[in-house]
Amino acid sequence: MYTVPKLDDYSPAALDRAMADLIGSVKAEKELVGSGSDWKAFRDRWLARKNGILAQVNEIWLKAAPPEAKRDVGQRVNQLKEEVNGWVKVGELLGRALDLPAADQPRVLAHAKDIIAARREAQLSAERLDITLPGIRRPIGVKHPVLRVQDEIVAVFKAMGYSVGEGPEVETDYYNFESLNFPPNHPARDTQDTIFIAGQERKPAHNRLLLRTHTSPVQIRSMEKLAPPVRIVIPGKVHRNDPLDATHSPVFHQVEGLAVDTNITFCDLKGTLDHAMKALFGSSVKTRFYPSFFPFTEPSADMQVSCIFCGGKGCRKCKFSGWIELLGCGMVDPNVFEFVKHNGYDSSKISGFAFGMGVERIAILKYEVEEIQLFYEGDVRFLEQFA
Ligand code: PHE
Repeated sequence: MYTVPKLDDYSPAALDRAMADLIGSVKAEKELVGSGSDWKAFRDRWLARKNGILAQVNEIWLKAAPPEAKRDVGQRVNQLKEEVNGWVKVGELLGRALDLPAADQPRVLAHAKDIIAARREAQLSAERLDITLPGIRRPIGVKHPVLRVQDEIVAVFKAMGYSVGEGPEVETDYYNFESLNFPPNHPARDTQDTIFIAGQERKPAHNRLLLRTHTSPVQIRSMEKLAPPVRIVIPGKVHRNDPLDATHSPVFHQVEGLAVDTNITFCDLKGTLDHAMKALFGSSVKTRFYPSFFPFTEPSADMQVSCIFCGGKGCRKCKFSGWIELLGCGMVDPNVFEFVKHNGYDSSKISGFAFGMGVERIAILKYEVEEIQLFYEGDVRFLEQFA
């Protein structure tokens, strides 16, 4: 015979076990309801207001439950009441039927059966598992717009036979400046607001570490590794001590390019970059080259593209000039080859061009992004527009 146990574990699992035990017992006891007035005793035992099993459950489980378990226990006790009432009703009907004249028995038994069937139905539908319900889809992200544009630029050059290189972001003074023909203390260094690593004073100047201000140091690193001819693009992150504004960020990305071979001329530089800009912005875009200065190229140029917003007519975006400045470039300065001459870079025999472009700048133009910060804030509403 079932007796209501005291609970000392009120975890949901323990409660479920206690409940299953009780429901199993009421079902089993219902089977034992025999003839005569057994059903009355059966009903009293489970449902009597005073000391019936359900009343005991109220006392022993619910009232004794710690406050934090009350809700769980309460829910289960309600469910239990419904279950037990149902089974008692079935037991009652079965018992009563035995007291009835034989002719009436089938009707009552059929009613009991209906109740049992309805209960089973209810239980099955409560346990129903909809296997057609799709699982939880975790959205896979998309490539970040900066990386996407970076890859696009790289792909344009790969298609022209360029290979892809990389270099470190923490760089030495030698690669970032000295070997690129920025002599120590040369004012050209000031144009690259450099972030230096602290506590390097004991090292010789060319070994001191800094965050690279451009991807150009990888020109030298590449030429140290690869003998000419080379055609290489180098994408990567660069750092400058620039305050953040609508178009500047202290961390941004560049794609560097370097081509060295016999008889490379400024025409090759112009043709290559003109083709690349048409591939990136559409075939109607025009390029022009303006004199500029970089210590590591001679001659040096800034390349401009015809304004992609107004087609060159002049608008606010191009400050009514019709042109937008996009990248720095030039012919590799013979002084730079001096630093890698041991690897076959003899400036009397070979020549080359180099260029460096800002990835964010190109992304801003391509996607008409108003503020560079949008690329770094990780706001999904911004990023998902590139999905
Ligand atoms: N490194 C230069 C910059 O960051 C760009 C550049 C690269 C210019 C290669 C000439 C040649 O401004």
